Amino acid sequence: MLSQTLIDQCQERMNPFACEGFILGKGPSHPRVMFVGEAPGETEIHNGIPFSGRAGEEFDKFLLYAGLTREEVFITSAVRSRPYRWGESRGKKRKYNRTPNQKEIAAHAPILDAEIQIADPELIVPMGRIAYWRLLGEFPKMDEVTGTFIHSPIRVLDDWGKNTYRFTKHTYTLFPIYHPAAILYKRSLSSDIYEHLDRLKAYLH
Ligand code: URA
Repeated sequence: MLSQTLIDQCQERMNPFACEGFILGKGPSHPRVMFVGEAPGETEIHNGIPFSGRAGEEFDKFLLYAGLTREEVFITSAVRSRPYRWGESRGKKRKYNRTPNQKEIAAHAPILDAEIQIADPELIVPMGRIAYWRLLGEFPKMDEVTGTFIHSPIRVLDDWGKNTYRFTKHTYTLFPIYHPAAILYKRSLSSDIYEHLDRLKAYLH
């Protein structure tokens, strides 16, 4: 179980930033697969369920296609709060989602580190470039890495003051895929995404 002290420390580290709400990852204690997203959006911070907004509808299709259920997988993200920016719509100020920055990712990094250590999944599926960077420390072209199996140590936060990471001794198996929201912006990714899910399904079954 994640300790409340760790959660409190991470929430405090996030205080200086424009982020709201807080949700933890959800799933069984020892899942075969752990999906790692970017950060919750408005819907998720209101109902506390990861991937329950528009991206979540796509994510549910991914799971169904891969022959998986929400009950059997662990669903989490690099950041636990919703990073927002103020904007205007029809003359009214409102909050928009934005990509978390590196300080925000580091603020919540110990939570993901602990979730991975405790759940010890057989396979980690980073969804999108933020999750990929958080775990592997690189920003590659997603079309070059998605749908491939990677055997590698992963990054864990090393120094809370300097926000530096180190790699684990343990080697993990990762299978990066596109973030489910990517399909909302670029429908043409669909055939690649579902081909990658075919590979995931083949590996799991
Ligand atoms: N994107 C994420 O990465 N996580 C969510 O819960 C929702 C959208």
